[in-house]
Amino acid sequence: MSQSRWLRRTGAARLEFGADYNPEQWPREVWDDDARAMRTAGVTIVTLGVFSWALLEPAEGEYDFGWLDDAMDLMHVNGIAVDLATATASPPPWLTTKHPEILPVTADGVTLWPGGRQQWRPTSAVFRTHALRLTRAMAERYGGHPALVAWHVSNELGCHNIYDYSDDAAAAFRLWLRERYATLDALNAAWATAFWSQHLSAWEQVLPPRTAASFPNPTQQLDFKRFSSDALKDHLRAERAVLREVTPDVPVTTNFMVMGETKGMNYADWAAEVDFVSNDHYVQPGPQGRDELSFSANLTGGLAGGRPWFLMEHSTSAVNWQPVNVAKRPGELARDSMTHVAYGADAVCYFQWRQSAAGAEKYHSGMIPHAGEDSTLFRAVADLGKRLGDLAPLAGTPRTPARAAILFDWESWWAAEADSHPTDRLRYRQEALDWYTAFLDLGVRADVLPVAAPLDGYDLVVAPILHVVPASLASRLTAFVQAGGHLVATYFSGVVDENDHVWLGGYPGPLRDLLGIRIEEFAPLLDDERVTLDNGSTGTLWTDRIDVSTEDVEVLARYTTGDQAGRPAVTWNPTAGGAAGYVSTRLGPQGLATVLGEFLSRAGIESELPPDQRGKVELAIRGDFHFLINRTDEPIDLGGYLLAADGVVVVRE
Ligand code: GLA
Ligand code: GLA
Repeated sequence: MSQSRWLRRTGAARLEFGADYNPEQWPREVWDDDARAMRTAGVTIVTLGVFSWALLEPAEGEYDFGWLDDAMDLMHVNGIAVDLATATASPPPWLTTKHPEILPVTADGVTLWPGGRQQWRPTSAVFRTHALRLTRAMAERYGGHPALVAWHVSNELGCHNIYDYSDDAAAAFRLWLRERYATLDALNAAWATAFWSQHLSAWEQVLPPRTAASFPNPTQQLDFKRFSSDALKDHLRAERAVLREVTPDVPVTTNFMVMGETKGMNYADWAAEVDFVSNDHYVQPGPQGRDELSFSANLTGGLAGGRPWFLMEHSTSAVNWQPVNVAKRPGELARDSMTHVAYGADAVCYFQWRQSAAGAEKYHSGMIPHAGEDSTLFRAVADLGKRLGDLAPLAGTPRTPARAAILFDWESWWAAEADSHPTDRLRYRQEALDWYTAFLDLGVRADVLPVAAPLDGYDLVVAPILHVVPASLASRLTAFVQAGGHLVATYFSGVVDENDHVWLGGYPGPLRDLLGIRIEEFAPLLDDERVTLDNGSTGTLWTDRIDVSTEDVEVLARYTTGDQAGRPAVTWNPTAGGAAGYVSTRLGPQGLATVLGEFLSRAGIESELPPDQRGKVELAIRGDFHFLINRTDEPIDLGGYLLAADGVVVVRE
């Protein structure tokens, strides 16, 4: 990982606080008011220029930088740093009119027209040329500006244009496949084209998985996902190359979207491409909303290798793009931000500074709402700014690793949720989140890690639905157990290799010996089917027909109802050095807490919280700083002081 750099600024270390700032949406006189209010709120940094291409380059090769010069200078005189966008996120109308061939095309052949944003093909050479020219112009113009502390490449790469099925994409996909497989024979073998008369006899026959008469080839689909993530990563690298050439002293980042069901970009693979990891996160309403935030922040910390990262966007209150956009309570505003800080954010930024009066995001909250500065929301924002200012000594402190971890794997996410499977109801990230909630409910810290992260130092590693297990990963997991580690896998793990070919001889192929079990058939459940276990839990979604293959295996829970009644549901295999457990059904957070409690005690891991706080309080640790987050809607007595509902307390040990 190359993340050795933080912002280009001098002065004391601090936590940054700010937002996307879009001054071009407002008359000039508002800007001075903005700068004054930013100082009131404790703002230290803004992101400028994200959607400014059409105003910065109003006609091909003609630049109008005057207004941005003015905005940069205004920030500088007010002591506010700038994370400057390369402004290439959304191509201007003159470009898409002159070159409609840069517009993305869906799997159904529908062109995505201008009118929204991000209407560009990741693989368009025409787009790339124009974007890099603007990037260079920006770097040359602002590289030496004293307000500039970081480059922000494009914006949320892949938010809307991750999957493009155009002819450009087809050509680039062929090149990508030639790189991966070298020969057509190797491609035919990997894609198993003996099936359904798909044998390819020339590279020109290769296509993206466009809408087909039946299920497109599964390995073609998986490779297209890999390729699509790589195509945008290539764009990131191309802009970065220009920036590093012109301004080698300015760090480069781009905002990831580690949140909810956004899954197209393999951020584990992208993280090494940026000087520091940045993330955007928006809370999903619902019973696990706050756990999902924590999970995402935790995983972002994992992508950053435990080092601090930059929260580029979240919201002060409602967003505009959910079916119903729920307003936050003032306490939630601070709790959400502080939870990100707890898991390593050294910058807390919002979309956006001033709520828009017009446009598709006019109902999206900002730091200054429509009501203006005289508002509960702005006062809560200013309180948070003050609080972050006081937390300056925290800046730069890495997270303190937990003893347990949850592994997260984009390829398993992609492959496990593919079509033509035992069930289309399986949700990879939900299963991982349920485990995370179970950890929180037990008051035990767990790091969420990309699957390739080193596992040394962890006593218990949970691998939910680790579906894609190449031989090398199986060896790593085996070595972890042999070295004394405790590994837990779930249903539909270890089923296929990197080409999505099933490991034969009984599931879960390469983990069979480690787990001491053999599964002859999957037995997924219908929506209204439930099975009970003899430990009192209920399973849904999935069951397996498990046979235990050695006497050493302990059955921790058996099915008492359904087709598998009497068979093992949860197993534990004490084996060379450590142990390996298996959970064969979807238990949900409550059922998982029961089995996890058992796994934790076998791995010798205890909660670091007093018994009466477990489940109610969430603990995160960065060096000397202990974060206690209230997971309930009631105040909690921490013995001596009260942790407010929605409250977060930071204790320095
Ligand atoms: C994304 C974008 C922002 C804005 C927010 C709204 O994160 O990067 O420009 O559209 O969504 O939530
Ligand atoms: C049809 C087809 C077969 C096979 C089955 C699957 O019958 O003719 O080739 O795909 O469906 O059930």
